[in-house]
Amino acid sequence: KIYYDQDADLNVLKDKTIVFLGFGNQGAAQAQNLRDSGIPNEQILIANRPDSYAEDAKAKGFKVEHDFVKAAKAADVVFILVPDQVQPRVFNETFTPNLKDTAAIVVASGYNVFFKLLKFKPTQDVVMVAPRMIGSSVRSLYVKGKGFPCFVSVEQDGTGNGLAVALALSRAIGATKAGAIDSSVYEETAMDLFAEQALWPNIIMLFREAFSVLKDAGCSDEALCYEMWMSKEPAEIFERAAEDGFIAQLKHHSTVSQYGQLSGALALDGTATREHFKNILHNQVLNGKFSGEFTKIEADLEKEGDENPLNVLYKKSEETELVQAEKRVRSRLANLL
Ligand code: NAI
Repeated sequence: KIYYDQDADLNVLKDKTIVFLGFGNQGAAQAQNLRDSGIPNEQILIANRPDSYAEDAKAKGFKVEHDFVKAAKAADVVFILVPDQVQPRVFNETFTPNLKDTAAIVVASGYNVFFKLLKFKPTQDVVMVAPRMIGSSVRSLYVKGKGFPCFVSVEQDGTGNGLAVALALSRAIGATKAGAIDSSVYEETAMDLFAEQALWPNIIMLFREAFSVLKDAGCSDEALCYEMWMSKEPAEIFERAAEDGFIAQLKHHSTVSQYGQLSGALALDGTATREHFKNILHNQVLNGKFSGEFTKIEADLEKEGDENPLNVLYKKSEETELVQAEKRVRSRLANLL
């Protein structure tokens, strides 16, 4: 099911205090869109720790509250728009004990609701309004009068009014203009984490191996980097895929390329990859193995140097031939400029 502007009634939000917990990528975009949709500034409160994001919110004319307990007590609706890994800590400690029994809680990603890492009262509404766009596009498309793809769901309908609230909020941030897709935190989490943990790691691996094979065959770093990604050809291919069709975009390529790609893809046996993908989906994503492990290292992600596991992963990835070659190419390019 797809929801459009006419399915949503902004009057549902009349006199409600709408709190944005976080004014980052999504928070800044969604709060501005909501205000530009006619929700009065007095009804909007930005709950943010004192930092550059809070300053940005003030500069844009929003009321900012640094005391999260006060913000929670005032909220009829709260958009949770701080990073996923900090949400359980921040929300459960300050918002859960202080929110109204009838509050509506909005997430922009299914992760913490699907893995039951956030605590709600059964009388509250829990909805997902998840733009499929980075925050800057959520804002720029709205300003241009266009919509953006978005998933919507009601995960807990404590007040019986959850869908009406979810749709009104979706419309206010500009998500029902192009059509908001009925989804669920299960679907959103499964697809997101699968893409992040199965599809893209394989794509990174394919590029890494392709680079090595062609390098061994005598191709230069420069030629390889440009051929494979620095020319932005892959970006253009995906843009065409979105516009013309996943396979239909091939028609923009040469006949040699079309024949090679189609015959090559059909000749590949995907059975082993399918099993590998199923294993990641069921035994790493959906069973909570990854989220359990991630919760254990989450606090370390704010540390410096090698104590931060993400830094260690970056360091290891930088040792690969592809990244080393790209560094050389970029430094030579910089010398040219
Ligand atoms: P972000 O990284 O831009 O968040 C920054 C905000 O979080 C700032 O207001 C900052 O003050 C606050 N913050 C950061 N650490 C904090 C802490 N320890 N305690 C208190 N406040 C803290 O977040 P982003 O990327 O906008 O993500 C918000 C939600 O939107 C997430 O659930 C994410 O999955 C979802 N989402 C993000 C998209 C994106 O384009 N980045 C796309 C679609 C959904």
